[in-house]
Amino acid sequence: GLKKKEVNVLCLGLDNSGKTTIINQLKPSNLRLYGPLSDDWKHVSQTQTQDIVPTIGFNIEKFKSSSLSFTVFDMSGQSRYRNLWEHYYKESHAIIFVIDSGDKQTDRQTFFTCSLVFLLPPDICSRRMPVLLFANKSDLREAMSSVKVSQLLCLENIKDKPWHICASNAVKGEGLQEGVDWLQDHIR
Ligand code: GTP
Ligand code: MG
Repeated sequence: GLKKKEVNVLCLGLDNSGKTTIINQLKPSNLRLYGPLSDDWKHVSQTQTQDIVPTIGFNIEKFKSSSLSFTVFDMSGQSRYRNLWEHYYKESHAIIFVIDSGDKQTDRQTFFTCSLVFLLPPDICSRRMPVLLFANKSDLREAMSSVKVSQLLCLENIKDKPWHICASNAVKGEGLQEGVDWLQDHIR
């Protein structure tokens, strides 16, 4: 059949927001993607979310959608590694930005700083790079809705790039497919 188009995606967001958990769910070894799990398989999927540790630097992962073959740069969100982010914008076709929507520390200023970091590096300002945001940890009782998160991030001000926000629960894999479908439709 036709070879899938290869695209690079940069996965950004503060530490502990759930980036690696999301990417792990999208990887093909996760049987969750193929339907409800029988008890026999549950331990396989649990291992995939339990073994996750804070990312050092970044990891490179691959997964496929129906028409694209994704290479994801899963970056560390820790402040000491955030200077790595800018080196990968140039090669990227899209950004996945993950927010911990249950994080009480994630105040307006933090959001503002993050959004500046990922939206305004000088050499990509002019590029029409789709931005997919996950308002992750939607299962937490104190979680903000995706509408609330998009207000805090002032997403309506983004006019030069297509963007989309999905509520997600990365531990259960909920909301991720909607996001990947949107990405697939908006990457050129
Ligand atoms: P860094 O690599 O340090 O930048 O962090 P990260 O963004 O990759 O976060 P990671 O995927 O390591 O997840 C951090 C913690 O949040 C882990 O304990 C995950 O199990 C947990 N977590 C991730 N997604 C969710 C979610 O949707 N709901 C809940 N309740 N916990 C989540
Ligand atoms: Mg990580």
